[in-house]
Amino acid sequence: MTLKIAVLPGDGIGTEIVTQAIAVLDALSLPLEYGHAPVGGAAYEAHGHPLPESTLEVCRKADAILFGAVGDWKYDSLERKLRPEQAILGLRKQFGLFANFRPAILYPELANASSLKPEVVAGLDILIIRELTGDIYFGQPRGRRESPDGEFAGAPEAFDTMRYSRPEVERIAHVAFGAARKRGKRLTSVDKANVLETFQFWKDIMIEVSAQYPDVALDHMYVDNAAMQLVKAPKKFDVIVTGNMFGDILSDEAAMLTGSIGMLPSASLNARNFGLYEPSHGSAPDIAGKGVANPLATILSAAMMLRYTFNRPDAADTIESAVKSVLAQGLRTADIFEAGTTKVGTAEMGAAVVSAIKAGK
Ligand code: NAI
Ligand code: MG
Repeated sequence: MTLKIAVLPGDGIGTEIVTQAIAVLDALSLPLEYGHAPVGGAAYEAHGHPLPESTLEVCRKADAILFGAVGDWKYDSLERKLRPEQAILGLRKQFGLFANFRPAILYPELANASSLKPEVVAGLDILIIRELTGDIYFGQPRGRRESPDGEFAGAPEAFDTMRYSRPEVERIAHVAFGAARKRGKRLTSVDKANVLETFQFWKDIMIEVSAQYPDVALDHMYVDNAAMQLVKAPKKFDVIVTGNMFGDILSDEAAMLTGSIGMLPSASLNARNFGLYEPSHGSAPDIAGKGVANPLATILSAAMMLRYTFNRPDAADTIESAVKSVLAQGLRTADIFEAGTTKVGTAEMGAAVVSAIKAGK
């Protein structure tokens, strides 16, 4: 069976890092087939739109999308619907990518990169699963109006609606329990059930679904406490599942525990395991075109693609071991460089991962 991948490098550092991820995939001798298409700023330049129909068509023919990054500063003055970031929102919507996976792993070689004490973060390996298509970001009604009542009746006000339907919570619950089952068998559902009806509903459904996963231990935590625990004792967590807004914030917080945005992959999946795989960072316009960006987050995103969409955990392991091996060799891009290590550029880092794979490391 051919593994069909839509390759969307985007703009900024996107092309540089995706080139390296493709080289790594090619080193695995898998039956891969690529479709290439522009997205974000690159698509705006070519087609006047950040997510043109021709790019969607390439994605529809594939089983997974390898995405670089979008959002160069030079597009900041465009109207909102033409801005590069709209492409990522459009892809999530088009493909129903409701489950966002963000692992936060601290590699022992990068222990000093974290701003937390080594004993707090050493060996950190947690997975945050964020619901991506519901919650207050999409709930209707929303807007601006004249305040209808209360102390400030008649004054201008703005409002959004937090909402989740039962099927939306059920499907993210199943994804999260399934992922926890494959890892440490512990799942923490993060909510605000003490204040918000939406999250009491969320919590009730998590408890209900947990009956189908007796081997996974479920606990619940309020989001404010979760924010504290993530910096106080992050290793207490295994898998965290939460809504769209809390997940947005907590996943960035968790990313920073490892201190190196250039190392963090992500996956956004739908119900049929079609996925969009991308580094957690953005297009880094400050270093674009300089050949210094860290390609490892994108390379590790390709590993997640093999694990989650293509069901090739063996190939994913090969990439992940090769990444560990280049770190152990002391190779570092500028973002993770420290005294006593060897500074390399984007292409050298990618080539080192390829060599490690070929050497069976
Ligand atoms: P950013 O993640 O692009 O950059 C933040 C800092 O981290 C910069 O100093 C950058 O040089 C550095 N950095 C990021 N990735 C790196 C890598 N692989 N290697 C070495 N250093 C790296 O975030 P920022 O600056 O807030 O946003 C820049 C643009 O990216 C904005 O237009 C934003 O909207 C967009 N963005 C796009 C995302 C996506 O494509 N999914 C996600 C986040 C932001
Ligand atoms: Mg965010």
